[in-house]
Amino acid sequence: MSGIIERYNGFVEAYRQRHDNRDPGFFKFAKYALKAFFGYSVKTHNAGKHIFKGPGDSNTPAAKGLDSRAVTGMNEHSICRDPSEAPEGYHRVGVPDDKVSWNTPFEDYKPSEYTAVSVLRQPVWADPLKPKDVNWKDKAHQSHLGEIKFDQTGMPLNPKGRTGTEGRGQLGKWGPNHAADPIITRDGPDGTYELLLIKRGDNGQWALPGGMVDPTDASFSAAAIRELAEEALNSPEVLDDDIKSQLALLEGQLKIKGETDKEIEARIIGLRNKLVFEKLKNSPGFQQPEEVYKGYVDDRRNTDNAWMETAAYHTHIEGSNPYLNKPEAGDDAQHAQWVEVTPELVNSLYASHPDIVKHVPRIKEICA
Ligand code: BGC
Repeated sequence: MSGIIERYNGFVEAYRQRHDNRDPGFFKFAKYALKAFFGYSVKTHNAGKHIFKGPGDSNTPAAKGLDSRAVTGMNEHSICRDPSEAPEGYHRVGVPDDKVSWNTPFEDYKPSEYTAVSVLRQPVWADPLKPKDVNWKDKAHQSHLGEIKFDQTGMPLNPKGRTGTEGRGQLGKWGPNHAADPIITRDGPDGTYELLLIKRGDNGQWALPGGMVDPTDASFSAAAIRELAEEALNSPEVLDDDIKSQLALLEGQLKIKGETDKEIEARIIGLRNKLVFEKLKNSPGFQQPEEVYKGYVDDRRNTDNAWMETAAYHTHIEGSNPYLNKPEAGDDAQHAQWVEVTPELVNSLYASHPDIVKHVPRIKEICA
């Protein structure tokens, strides 16, 4: 039994090393270096009041040391049009505010095409290469925003309009790509209010500990709590004797079956998260989370044909909870922590998370 725990701690350590290497400063540098080296394909981009020409332009949010939303006025479709926010591989062409809508003619519109190689390889989470081969009736392809519109060639159209990039970018699915987000709050010291957050591994921004919905998730809210367990509840202290013995049993069975170390690691992490998830749901002070938002997300990975949507669930933790006292990052997160809610913190959160968390009345009040 102690072997399994050491082993598990080893996994946590391996995660941490992987994520510690992903320093956000390094990401920013690499992003700009790549663009500078391979040429910056974006001509001009008008998102709001400013024209963004590229990384050297003193009008870019990065050059001004500002969050792009502060510049663009938190429009729900601005991060996904902003070239300076785009992940590597994306080369967004400019989409002025008045040309965002598909109903507005934009004859010169020539979006660049990009689908990441990791998506084109068609892993299990990715769709077929052509949208016509997608089963548009299945649950995973339904949009929270209602009926999906297609262009004449059968390409699904982003419900909020043009983004400057076509294809799927880094997103696996054509059309909506579903995430689920837990909003976990508690009272902090001296009348403060705290939010459980992670630092994302991909860009170092504070974000809700959410993630993509899996086909095996029973519901969006179950996906949100599973993600919470995966992203933020990785402290070995959450493993009680019952969980430890179930993990040890599984490890023994898999070893007898002659599974590879990699397979054993993946299965143990999967079972661990499932068990922590079940225990958390039934733990003291943990109320069933309530849905506060379901809809589009202004995510930097969105394209004209693939976009993020999320469903967010809030619960306020009363008193001490053994699973949530000491958050510890796992999966895609670099770091997990309770953070005091301030307007500055909220406005700096990832993608549409600033708007989403403001659906919690107390957070809205603090930010007013
Ligand atoms: C994140 C979610 C987020 C979604 C849309 C996912 O990668 O894990 O927290 O809401 O993207 O931005």
